[in-house]
Order: sequence, then C-alpha cells, then structure tokens
Amino acid sequence: MKFFVDTAEIAEIRELAATGLLDGVTTNPSLIAKSGRNILEVIAEICEVVPGPVSAEVAATEYDQMLKEAAVLRKIAPNVAIKVPLTQDGLRTCYALSQEGVMVNVTLCFSAAQALLAAKAGATFISPFVGRLDDIGQNGMDLIADIVQIYANYPAIKTEVLVASIRNPIHLIEAAKMGADVATIPPGVIKQLYGHPLTDEGLATFLVDWAKTGQSIA
Ligand code: G3P
Repeated sequence: MKFFVDTAEIAEIRELAATGLLDGVTTNPSLIAKSGRNILEVIAEICEVVPGPVSAEVAATEYDQMLKEAAVLRKIAPNVAIKVPLTQDGLRTCYALSQEGVMVNVTLCFSAAQALLAAKAGATFISPFVGRLDDIGQNGMDLIADIVQIYANYPAIKTEVLVASIRNPIHLIEAAKMGADVATIPPGVIKQLYGHPLTDEGLATFLVDWAKTGQSIA
C-alpha cells in the first residue's frame, strides 16, 4: 500500500520524507489556505522533496478554466497530479488530461457510481472520503469495499483507489485489509501509527535491564 501525506506543510513533509515512508502528497484548497502559502510556490517545494505524485487541486468549476489552471499547475513539475472535483466538468477535464498522459486525482468521491465514472474518465486516482461519510452517519469503509470490489471486476480499470479523509489508524488498517492502493493520511495519524503501549513498556524494561549490565555497544 502506498502512503501519501495529506498536508501542504513543507516542514511536516520534509520530516516524513526522511523516514522513507512517503510515496506521495495530497493537497486541497483548504490545506493550501491553512498553510498560508502561494499554491505555485508550495507545490514546487513539495515536488522537490517528494518524487512521487503530488496532488494540486484546480479551483475552477468550469471545464475551460479547469484546463487553464491545470496547464499552470502541471508546468510546476512532472510529478504533479492534477486534482479535480467529481463533477461533470471535473470528469471532462479528467478525460482530456488523461488523454494527454497527465496524472489526475478525482476528489470528493462519495459513491461507488461516482468512482465508476472517474475510472471511465481515465482517472489515475479516485479519492473517496471515508471520514466525511462517517461524519454523516454512513460507513465510509463500506464505500472503499464497494469500489475495490467493482474495480477488481474489470482488469482494464487502472484507476488506483486512494482512501482520503482518513481520521484514525483503524481507517488505514481497514483500507489495507480491503486492498486499497493508496491512503492519504494526515501527519497526526501517521504519528499515531508508531505507538503501542506495550512497545513503550517493553522498551522501558529493556533500558532498565541494560543499565544493570554496565555495558555500552558504541
Ligand atoms: O484531501 C482530501 C481529504 O483527505 C480531506 O480530509 O479530514 O478534510 O475530510 P478531511
């Protein structure tokens, strides 16, 4: 499973890239706003740090303007994936870009029918939002199971399932069990993945016992 980080904070991205865990980055207009940075500058910096796909989202809602914005964003670096919303114009843009060999991430997916449309439009990634479905009382992970199953029925579909709106480690583990291709994870949740109380307890015991030996290795 590929791990992307869902942030536009360059310091966090640098720290995670140094661990070797990071296969890509996703951003969205809210994350760019939170960073307080210019989108072109911050995406360029991220692309220098992470060689994998870096999603940069168009802000337009109409096809012609989406294509114009995509032309600007894709010039930043070859690893930019253009992110478009799952609308008619978004999918038309996805189709046009994918015909030119540009990576496209179709975002704001909340149904299996939408995911099927994105695959037919040539999306590189489909981004179903699990946390936001949970927020309205629907099971976000059921959507991932449906999409993974549907895509598996058609080997011609090359679209990767990119689980988004992840809020906790359980979302990630469930997605991995279902065989989702990618998870985009907030930095805070990535940090949570390391922790287990028995790891802390075991290490504390080892340190105490090691001190009793009076030895040092290096
Ligand atoms: O980047 C898209 C998605 O991951 C957003 O997550 O937490 O704002 O629902 P969230």
